[in-house]
Amino acid sequence: MDNKGQGELENKVAIVTGAQQGIGLATASRLAANGAKVVLADLPGSRIEEAAQKASEKGDAVARHVDITDEQSVRELVEFTRDTWGGLDILDNNAARQGLAGDTDILSMDPDVWDSIFAVNARGTMLMCKHAIAAMTRNGGSIINISSGTSLAGQLYQSAYACSKGTINTLTKYIATQYGDQGIRCNAIAVGLVKTEMLKKAMPESYQQLMVDQKLAGRLGDPDDIAQMVSFLASDRASWITGQIYSVDGGYFAHGPQVSAEKKMMAQSSEGVGV
Ligand SMILES: NC(=O)c1ccc[n+]([C@@H]2O[C@H](COP(=O)([O-])OP(=O)(O)OC[C@H]3O[C@@H](n4cnc5c(N)ncnc54)[C@H](O)[C@@H]3O)[C@@H](O)[C@H]2O)c1
Repeated sequence: MDNKGQGELENKVAIVTGAQQGIGLATASRLAANGAKVVLADLPGSRIEEAAQKASEKGDAVARHVDITDEQSVRELVEFTRDTWGGLDILDNNAARQGLAGDTDILSMDPDVWDSIFAVNARGTMLMCKHAIAAMTRNGGSIINISSGTSLAGQLYQSAYACSKGTINTLTKYIATQYGDQGIRCNAIAVGLVKTEMLKKAMPESYQQLMVDQKLAGRLGDPDDIAQMVSFLASDRASWITGQIYSVDGGYFAHGPQVSAEKKMMAQSSEGVGV
C-alpha cells in the first residue's frame, strides 16, 4: 500500500521558504510526507523546481519563485498558495542570507553588508508573516521562524547575521502576542550547526570538529533533525505551544561553557577534575 503523504498534517497547507536545498528542502519533504500540501519557494534562478520534484516523491508539493524582500513577490506567493491548495495553515520561514565574507565583528562591519542581511532575514521574514497571517483564515495557523543559536550568545564574527536572527526571536513573540486570539501560533527554532551544502562550503572540517566537541549529542545536525521539529510545531500536537524559542542544537546550549575543556582535562589526568 502507498502511504505517501499521510499523517498528522493531512488537510493542512504549508509554505516553506528557502526550500531549494538544505534544511528547507528536508523540511518541505518531511511536511509533505506527513500529509501537508506544500509550496516550496526560493529565489528566481534557484533550483526550486528540482527541489519540488524531490519533495513530491514524499507527498503533494509544488514550486514557486519568491524574493521575500519584495512585498509584491510575497503577496503573489501567498495568493498562489491559496489558489493552488485552497488555503494556508503553516508557514516555515526558512529563507536566509548568511555566510557573507563581509559579516564580521562590529568595528570591521560594512553597513551595506549589514543592510543586505537584515533585508532578507528581518524584513523578508516579517513580510512573509504579514501576508501569511492575513491568509490564515480557516482555523488559524502555525508559523515557524528558523532562527540560529548565534542569536543566543556572543560570538566573534557574523554579527549582522546573528543580530538579524535576534530580530526574528523578538518578532516571534510579537506575532504570538498580537494574533494568538485568531488562533495563530508562532514559534522559533534556534538551530545549531547542521550539515548542509551551505555549511560544507563555508566551514572547514577542523572547525566543524571543534563544534562537535561542544555538542552533547556528539555530532552535527542533519537537516531532518530540524524538519522533525518544524513538523511537530506545525501539527495540532503543539496546539498549546506558542511564543517560544527552542534550541535544536544537539545540546550545544545545555551545558556550561567549560565542559568540553573539562572532558579533555579528565582524559589527560589520572587525578580527575572537579570540586
Ligand atoms: N546550516 C546550519 O548550520 C544553520 C545553523 C543555524 C541556522 N540555520 C538556518 O537554517 C536555515 C536554512 O539554512 P541552510 O543551511 O539550509 O542554508 P541555505 O543557504 O542552503 O538556505 C537558505 C535559502 O534561502 C534562500 N534565500 C536567500 N535569500 C532569499 C530571498 N530574498 N528570498 C527567497 N529565498 C531566499 C537561498 O536561496 C537558500 O536556498 C536558514 O534560516 C539558516 O539561517 C542554519
